[in-house]
Amino acid sequence: MDYGPAPESQKEAQAWLEQRSRKFGLFIDNAWTEPGETFASINPADGSHLADLTQASAVDVARAVTAARKALPAWQALGGHGRAKIMYAIARLMQKHARLFAVLETLDNGKTIRETRDADLPLVARHFYYHAGWAQLLDEEFPGHRAVGVVGQIVPWNFPLLMLAWKIAPAMAAGNTIVFKPAEFTPLTAMLFADICVQAGVPAGVVNIVTGDGRTGEALVAHQGIDKLAFTGSTEVGRLIREATAGTGKKLSLELGGKSPFIVFEDADLDAAVEGLVDSIWFNQGQVCCAGSRLLVQESVQERFLKKLKARMDNLRLGSPLDKSMDIGALVDPIQQQRIAALVDSARAEGCEVYQPAGCEVPATGSWFPPTLITGASTSAAVAQAEIFGPVLVAMSFRTPAEAVQLANNTVYGLASCVWTENISLALDVAPAIKAGVVWINTANQFDAACGFGGYKESGYGREGGREGMFEYLVPVSEDARPAAPTFKKPAKPETEFTPSADPFAVDRTAKLYIGGKQARPDGAYSRAIHGADGKFLGEVGEGNRKDIRNAVEAAHKATGWTKATAHNRAQVLYYIAENLAARGAEFAERIAAQTGTKNAEKEVQASIERLFYWAAWADKYDGLAHQPPMHGITVALNEAVGVIGIVCPNENPLLGFISLVAPAIAVGNRVVAVPSEAYPLSVTDLYQVFDTSDLPGGVVNIVTGSADELARTLASHADVDAVWRHDGSAAGCAEVEKLSAASLKRTWTGGAKGRDWFSTAQAGGRVVLAHASQVKNIWIPYGV
Ligand code: NAI
Repeated sequence: MDYGPAPESQKEAQAWLEQRSRKFGLFIDNAWTEPGETFASINPADGSHLADLTQASAVDVARAVTAARKALPAWQALGGHGRAKIMYAIARLMQKHARLFAVLETLDNGKTIRETRDADLPLVARHFYYHAGWAQLLDEEFPGHRAVGVVGQIVPWNFPLLMLAWKIAPAMAAGNTIVFKPAEFTPLTAMLFADICVQAGVPAGVVNIVTGDGRTGEALVAHQGIDKLAFTGSTEVGRLIREATAGTGKKLSLELGGKSPFIVFEDADLDAAVEGLVDSIWFNQGQVCCAGSRLLVQESVQERFLKKLKARMDNLRLGSPLDKSMDIGALVDPIQQQRIAALVDSARAEGCEVYQPAGCEVPATGSWFPPTLITGASTSAAVAQAEIFGPVLVAMSFRTPAEAVQLANNTVYGLASCVWTENISLALDVAPAIKAGVVWINTANQFDAACGFGGYKESGYGREGGREGMFEYLVPVSEDARPAAPTFKKPAKPETEFTPSADPFAVDRTAKLYIGGKQARPDGAYSRAIHGADGKFLGEVGEGNRKDIRNAVEAAHKATGWTKATAHNRAQVLYYIAENLAARGAEFAERIAAQTGTKNAEKEVQASIERLFYWAAWADKYDGLAHQPPMHGITVALNEAVGVIGIVCPNENPLLGFISLVAPAIAVGNRVVAVPSEAYPLSVTDLYQVFDTSDLPGGVVNIVTGSADELARTLASHADVDAVWRHDGSAAGCAEVEKLSAASLKRTWTGGAKGRDWFSTAQAGGRVVLAHASQVKNIWIPYGV
């Protein structure tokens, strides 16, 4: 029996385009501007012209930002319930017009109607319902937070409407106003969404939509009136945005590329795994950031599995995306086809085997690519490392679970992964070991508004969906109360000559660096003198350099046991550090007073002890969540450590500032390379003795003294540092850290020019700090299906 044609009608969608004369201006302040310079939107399945859209200029973008700024107070004054009602109306309207949206999306993007109708649209409606709920509960569930302000949002073409919902729904719920830019290939459903906003009663200026290519995106990124940017798209553009926003104070979330592993163990239900793989790599023609594009199959079942897979590939149907029985539609644009073909050719040239179903006929017009399986590629081949973003699967084998994990993590990306096995212990052993934001166990490509989605490593940072996704659009009000950066007066007349101590037992003591649990002399063999507030010579500290940072990072990487240790164990060590610090409290207070001249030194030591207790208390209470998405099963959201964090500590309150940053980082399981206050490092250099007597394993906290600028630069440029925090009040230094972080897309937490009241837990504590120290991994575990 063969399939007959089952075309979905495009009449309504074409009529809607006709009604709009196939020409669109920009949607600003709930009104349409006159179309300006235009570009065409083409149906990639047949090359037909759908509509012309306006290429928004920087002036247009500025108008949209002004409208959004103006709309902000009234939108916030509407309150959670007021916004919830409007968002509920949007959700209802999206459902009412679901088919029109689905057909329009299929025409514009080339993805099959089966997917737009059954996946994209239901998820879009779900997102608005779910976030209408957060709007309603905002005051109760996010106390002490406010909306960020005006947000700029830029999305790609692979899930045009779904990405719109992922961006706009949480932003609205939190009380922000929005300037949204759809991708130039696929702007049409955003135009229809503008109509829905008007119908749903969204006040003018709350949602503004500007169309255009990367130039429009650049203008949005550069606009000074934007408080937060949310971007989904290629890693290259993500990097550019990170660089462009460095030092501007704009909040930033990036959801970037992936090269996600799909791991099949020998005991997996192989037929189910084949179906999962179809969903994973051939869904949306493989143009999915979290596509399972790297098949890792256990050697013992490799042959059997690939045979089944090829048989299934032979049955995939490629053709008109509006035909309801098609599995594979068109690629978004011929340029994608050329990119994919070039990568597949490179695999052929390297001697790989390329399998494409013999019977798969590719239409003569439009952009298409047949389902493709590549075997025999080396782990370093371009097809094994690059995000192909097409229907191309690269298969490799492994022997042991450990090898599977190693291969899975052999990528710069870390967006998603699949694990197929009937052995729950094996699945739950492997899931935490994979460095990716999502792990699907015996399932693939599941999404839900309640479960955060986002990457590790070069797949970006920030989450969309869930509670964690809401924090991306909120700011703690305590941030607004931060004091100006303190100014430091160098002692007027520092002693130039060494005065021997009057203490009869005095022995020269030069503070060394602390690396891998041992005192280390600085590589450059230079030291710097530290003087007290009264100019008195107090001692010398090592002048750390690049090599010292490299050694410290290496030591931190080796201390993996700390990340694997139980939270209870980490809490015990933090309490023990507090106990040992308390035992030497007077001595530490004296050091602080001598360096800074403060009368508050004892108070600072007391607060440091309390802060250690505080983070010890949190260590075993920062639990994850168990979500219950519409799927049968649970999604376990784990708060995992980020990895190795470089921390440049504040100058004010040199001991408390250090403890306030280092303790939460290690409480969550990170390892740290800390640069103590450049002005007053002696408060911290003595801490190594406290650490050594508190069961803190070597390498968990490494201390490198010296120039904050130079050491921060090295940390931010280091490819193996996962995050850099800088809080020494240097605006230029923080900007530099952010800029340099773009190369490896490491996370940053910078204080800019402002200081912080380190005594206040509102400013220096709470879940906000824990969120900086952790990343959420969602593990999907279906059952009962
Ligand atoms: P892209 O990253 O260039 O485009 C995504 C969005 O960013 C679009 O709205 C675009 O107009 C905008 N944009 C482009 N340059 C910009 C700039 N300098 N500043 C601000 N916004 C800018 O992605 P593109 O060129 O459409 O696709 C190229 C490749 O990127 C794909 O083949 C794929 O490998 C990858 N990609 C990955 C996506 C993901 O979700 N992981 C999504 C889209 C593309």
